[in-house]
Amino acid sequence: MIIVVERIKTGIPGMDELLYGGIPKRNIVLLSGGPGTGKTIFSQQYVYYGLLHGEPAVYVALEEHPVQVRRNMAEFGWDVRKFEEEGLFAIVDAFTGGIGEAAKRERYVVTSVDDFGEFIDVVKQALRDTRAVRAVVDSVSTLYITKPAVARGVLMNLKRVLAGLGATAILVSQVSVTERGFGGPGVEHAVDGIIRLDLDEVNGELKRSLIVWKMRGTKHDMRRHPFEITDKGIRVFPDKVVKITRFGYREE
Ligand SMILES: Nc1ncnc2c1ncn2[C@@H]1O[C@H](COP(=O)(O)OP(=O)(O)OP(=O)(O)O)[C@@H](O)[C@H]1O
Ligand SMILES: [Mg+2]
Repeated sequence: MIIVVERIKTGIPGMDELLYGGIPKRNIVLLSGGPGTGKTIFSQQYVYYGLLHGEPAVYVALEEHPVQVRRNMAEFGWDVRKFEEEGLFAIVDAFTGGIGEAAKRERYVVTSVDDFGEFIDVVKQALRDTRAVRAVVDSVSTLYITKPAVARGVLMNLKRVLAGLGATAILVSQVSVTERGFGGPGVEHAVDGIIRLDLDEVNGELKRSLIVWKMRGTKHDMRRHPFEITDKGIRVFPDKVVKITRFGYREE
């Protein structure tokens, strides 16, 4: 018997080639990388592609004001307001704590991010209301940065809710510039996939590359590929490979 893996396309040019068509449905993928590596742009592009193709989405903002999320996305030409008005897209405001005039206009507000129960309830409500097929949490690190002991529990809980309600999710994980890991052992093993974004300084210039470290339920490319960020978002070069050896950094 052939079981066809249902996939969710990232819609990021070049990326789905590395995933043999896309992320297996209901997988929870950790998108890990240092500061400025493109995690937020990648996630927003993933969400917007879905909206354009009739797949509702939820974006959980823990790092930036929802107003700023809308503005950043619009800079790339990804205008989400129409989808919000139609109930197909929701931003969960887990940033403002409900403080400020702009926050009063938000529909999904987490008043205390330290209250994980409340956080999960608001996320659940947004997923249900929109019937989200895609979800992003930017970033999950914020949920447990001060309490690493609970990281795995928080993540398993989140994973149950997201996959349980039918979403294929990207969880942004922040790592420091020098860290080789992806966000800690509890987290790395709990997720279904890991995509790692990197920035390397080569001869005084920053180079971007990414690698799919794991993806449950599918074959995936095992090589490191260069990518670029432009006014249109991210583009991955599946035909180019980056080699980091003891002799240096080489793009072929
Ligand atoms: N229009 C653009 N053209 C080219 N590069 C851009 C453009 N807009 C942003 N960038 C690049 O993208 C980077 C920001 O990407 P992003 O916000 O996705 O990073 P991040 O991984 O989420 O970082 P952090 O962990 O700090 O939130 C900027 O530092 C810049 O290098
Ligand atoms: Mg970011």
